[in-house]
Amino acid sequence: MDPIKIGLLGLGTVGGGTVSVLTRNIDEIARRAGREIIISHAAAKDYNADAIEGLDKIGKITDDVFGVVNDPDVEIIIELIGGYTLAKELVLKSIENGKHVVTANKALIALHGNEIFSAAQEKGVTVAFEAAVAGGIPIIKAMREGLAANQIQWAAGIINGTGNFILSEMRDKGRNFDDVLEEAQALGYAEADPTFDVEGIDAAHKLTIIGSIAFGIPLQFDKTYTEGITQIEQQDVVNAAELGYRIKHLGITRKTDKGIELRVHPTLIPERRLIANVDGVMNAVLVYGDAVGPTLYYGAGAGAQPTASAIVADVVDVVRALTTDPENRVPHLAFQPDAMSDIPVLDIEEIETAYYLRLSAVDRPGVLANVTSILGASNISIEAIIQKPAIEGSSQVPVIFLTQRVQEKNMNEAIRNIEALDTISGQVVRIRVETLK
Ligand code: HSE
Repeated sequence: MDPIKIGLLGLGTVGGGTVSVLTRNIDEIARRAGREIIISHAAAKDYNADAIEGLDKIGKITDDVFGVVNDPDVEIIIELIGGYTLAKELVLKSIENGKHVVTANKALIALHGNEIFSAAQEKGVTVAFEAAVAGGIPIIKAMREGLAANQIQWAAGIINGTGNFILSEMRDKGRNFDDVLEEAQALGYAEADPTFDVEGIDAAHKLTIIGSIAFGIPLQFDKTYTEGITQIEQQDVVNAAELGYRIKHLGITRKTDKGIELRVHPTLIPERRLIANVDGVMNAVLVYGDAVGPTLYYGAGAGAQPTASAIVADVVDVVRALTTDPENRVPHLAFQPDAMSDIPVLDIEEIETAYYLRLSAVDRPGVLANVTSILGASNISIEAIIQKPAIEGSSQVPVIFLTQRVQEKNMNEAIRNIEALDTISGQVVRIRVETLK
């Protein structure tokens, strides 16, 4: 049989990794796919030819991306240019041309996936996106296929390596935020715009996809609550450790009676949980299915070869399914397109969780009583209180509360009332707490 011809868009970090893996493992991959897979045509603006192993095996390289998607010999397009606008145009054009697409573009899938999948379905082609979520971890395949028997109840993941690297270094080495971010950029983990990492946007893209394949709901990035790690202070990392917790930046999705929670934010989790011990640039996703219980998927969430591992696996899947009827292929979002659910995504005020609160209080009798009576009035039960020594030169003392689970709406009301007390200065720091049981 003739080899399958791939068109590759982008020869950056991940593009280079993909060339390297596909060419280095060409024989093993052919044994798995049943056909040899070659990159016959690639396009990129600039690339570092010396850094890409196997580049000489690519049939043709130009800077004309549309030349690749319009190449009649190419059957599968790998889109690795990133961004939304040109990438979307190229993916839709590839579909129109009857080509299958493999992409690592989480922003594209989270924002435009509904439109892209519907175009692909109409044309009978596949758009595969394993590499878009948690890099090399095969989480899409695990959830879409391996857990297909289950009603998934919730999933929680460390899905941004840069953010996890920063929080790990802050905790283990007391390093400051900016310094660690710079290192993550130098190591090639961070997004082109690192605010996507530290403001939680990258994790929100990935969680949007996880939520859809967990519950069979359309992709709704605009409804995903997004909070980053820029407000996390060293003292909160230390306080969390004293209380037996670690702060992780988590994406959490959960099905409740009222709707689906989709939220990305820093979270205190008990240090004894396996996922609390996932450090550095590594990712992990914990999925709870009603039949299987908790399952945990761990691995490299970023980097050239781990991401290439997911891309090439998608290519192999597409090749294996080339001769199957489109309607017999695994649905893009795990559920059949005519069986998607319209269960609503909940506003953050509607979610229920426990909280860590840190406030700065005047050290005199009655102050904490006022705070606890505000919490009581909002129906918030207290789990623990710690008063820390006053910071040198200040008459204020930091006070830490751990609360039991309560609706966020109630907590917002309580925080507003606490901040209005003249014995409390500044804003109350609030970090959500999850036991992940
Ligand atoms: N910037 C992302 C991260 C890369 O740090 O996880 C992988 O999506």
